[in-house]
Amino acid sequence: MTNSISSVQALPPLKRILVLGSGGRENALAWAIEKCNSIEEVWVAPGNGGTKDLAGCKCIAIKESNVKGIIDHCLLKQIDLVVIGPETPLAKGVADELRAVGLAVFGPGADGAQLEASKSWSKELMAEAGIPTAKHWTANNENDALSILKSFNKPLVVKADGLAAGKGVTVAETIQETEQAIREVFQGKFGASGQKLVLEEKLNGPEVSVFALCDGARMILLPTAQDHKRLKEKDQGPNTGGMGAYAPAPLLNEEELNKVRESMLEPTLNALRGRGIDYRGVIYAGLMLTETGAKVIEFNCRFGDPECQTLMPLMGPELALVLQACALGSLSQAPNLSISNLCSACVVAAASGYPEAPRSGDLININTQAGKLIQLFHAGTKCTEDNKISTSGGRVLSVVAQGENFDIAFKNAYQGLNEIHFDGIHYRRDIGYQVRKF
Ligand code: AMP
Ligand code: GLY
Repeated sequence: MTNSISSVQALPPLKRILVLGSGGRENALAWAIEKCNSIEEVWVAPGNGGTKDLAGCKCIAIKESNVKGIIDHCLLKQIDLVVIGPETPLAKGVADELRAVGLAVFGPGADGAQLEASKSWSKELMAEAGIPTAKHWTANNENDALSILKSFNKPLVVKADGLAAGKGVTVAETIQETEQAIREVFQGKFGASGQKLVLEEKLNGPEVSVFALCDGARMILLPTAQDHKRLKEKDQGPNTGGMGAYAPAPLLNEEELNKVRESMLEPTLNALRGRGIDYRGVIYAGLMLTETGAKVIEFNCRFGDPECQTLMPLMGPELALVLQACALGSLSQAPNLSISNLCSACVVAAASGYPEAPRSGDLININTQAGKLIQLFHAGTKCTEDNKISTSGGRVLSVVAQGENFDIAFKNAYQGLNEIHFDGIHYRRDIGYQVRKF
């Protein structure tokens, strides 16, 4: 599906890239993109307190929602490729607006972003394409939802239809909890994102994240990763954006991953095309490996965070060209993406009060030295006026390390975290318990 480096000439020159977003995911993307030989400048808008310290990366204070500002900057700096990190600008059609002025963009338009931005739309597409997923029902009002629950008569998973910053899903344990979650959605807990909801049968099994880089018609797959969504050790406590990850996840072997590609990802891309959608960006499939086989739990239209921080150090210097080829609809012109066979471990440090009410403004003291096999990616951080770094969000930063096995990788990631201090810092000590020896 991809060609050797000699065919790269067919892609236009790639010198200047803009990455849109302010999280750890965007810092990791910028850091990995910068490794490509032809790259002269990598801008991150708006970035965070750690962006300017990444080799070759510059921050520009333009918000993701300021489309005019982004376009002006891209034209002024002759940006060759824009990579959009988060789902919100994608769902709002920022990629469409940038493409309309002739920019090459990695990230789907608003039509394709519905894969994540509307769970009912996504479920319909899955049904149409015959993709294995949980049994589900869409309801437009509370009465309909409650009568579906009554006829099913078992606890269900309740999902607000639209984007809800990762908080729109309740995996109810009882019928009463399901009823309460349904009422909360229709009482406006998620604003316009809760005008309808999806009810799903509850599945069981380990979860794995699979990423396909798509050019509208073709795709390449990255190694699988496993996230840790719960706040506390032993997978207890509330759901979070993700407290750590590791890759490659041995949950799927090569043959099983190929099956996921053929039975889930390619049919999804084909179904998108069938709807006239030219999907150029990431399809992130969150899978649950159930006793009756792998099923899609959700699709996202962007890289996972912190899976992206975990995966980027494994990517070869061709990554930027591969993203460009996706953006231009010509993945067949891209060089082979080389992928390291090391194990990668990522641990996220969170702020006091995360996830309910994260505290900002705690000064951060960092003594960790990033190196060839250890990286520090900031997320919820900012530079203070006197040039210090302080917390400014829930997931503050992550340390990522690679090694010949997961024991070495995690040992180094945790050692790196030991050298970072701020009031209220907390992180899980058991990330990767599935693949480590204790
Ligand atoms: P989502 O935002 O759809 O990924 O859901 C967040 C989390 O809720 C997932 O990572 C799962 O842990 C859980 N979840 C979602 N759907 C289901 C389901 N049908 N059965 C069991 N757990 C689920
Ligand atoms: N790590 C989960 C997500 O990015 O949605």
